[in-house]
Amino acid sequence: MVNIKIILGSTRDARFGRKVADWVVSEVEKNKNINLELIDLKEYNIPFFNLASNPSYMPDPGYTGDTAKLQEKLKEADGFIIVTPEYNHGYPGVLKNMIDTFYNEWKIKPVSFVSYGGISGGIRAVEQLRLVMIELHMVNIRDAVHIPFIFNQFSEEGLIKEEVKENAHIELMIKDLEWWAKTLKLPREEKLK
Ligand SMILES: Cc1cc2nc3c(=O)[nH]c(=O)nc-3n(C[C@H](O)[C@H](O)[C@H](O)COP(=O)(O)O)c2cc1C
Repeated sequence: MVNIKIILGSTRDARFGRKVADWVVSEVEKNKNINLELIDLKEYNIPFFNLASNPSYMPDPGYTGDTAKLQEKLKEADGFIIVTPEYNHGYPGVLKNMIDTFYNEWKIKPVSFVSYGGISGGIRAVEQLRLVMIELHMVNIRDAVHIPFIFNQFSEEGLIKEEVKENAHIELMIKDLEWWAKTLKLPREEKLK
């Protein structure tokens, strides 16, 4: 059993992101080897990054409140799925702030991506995220899901259309993520103890 956390990086009130994340949850839940939790950044009050140095030099930054709560959840994780929109050819600032707030919590863990947006489907946001993930000693999963024109992809009931889900082939990404999470778990724990 591996612990996978889905991180939803969009927090604006009128966001589409929660619907995308809820669909990802329903797909990952089909895999019985995964213990899953959704981390919706809208439910955490993470202040602007304000440490005296890079958290890579601080095994215990002394976080409190929601930041400490989130830190515990990230520590538990064996792997992540980041759900992100594309904002101005990048990913949301709220997501970058959260990423920079932590360091050791990311180390030697796999990460995969589900993105959405306008014409790009969020591909540019994910390409940028991949570079950041390398710096954090993470393993990027090659397969990702990108949903273009997200505003047109909902049925009359307000759910993501079935054909969009079928074309996404998210199962490939989930299978690889689970494999890497399982494969890295013991070596990571050995290396970081
Ligand atoms: C500030 C802002 C910038 C955007 N920039 C892009 C962009 O560069 N490329 C793109 O494909 N879509 C872009 N979009 C469209 C968003 O990806 C789309 O509105 C998406 O629903 C935003 O995610 P959210 O609803 O979860 O906030 C932008 C939207 C916003 C609000």
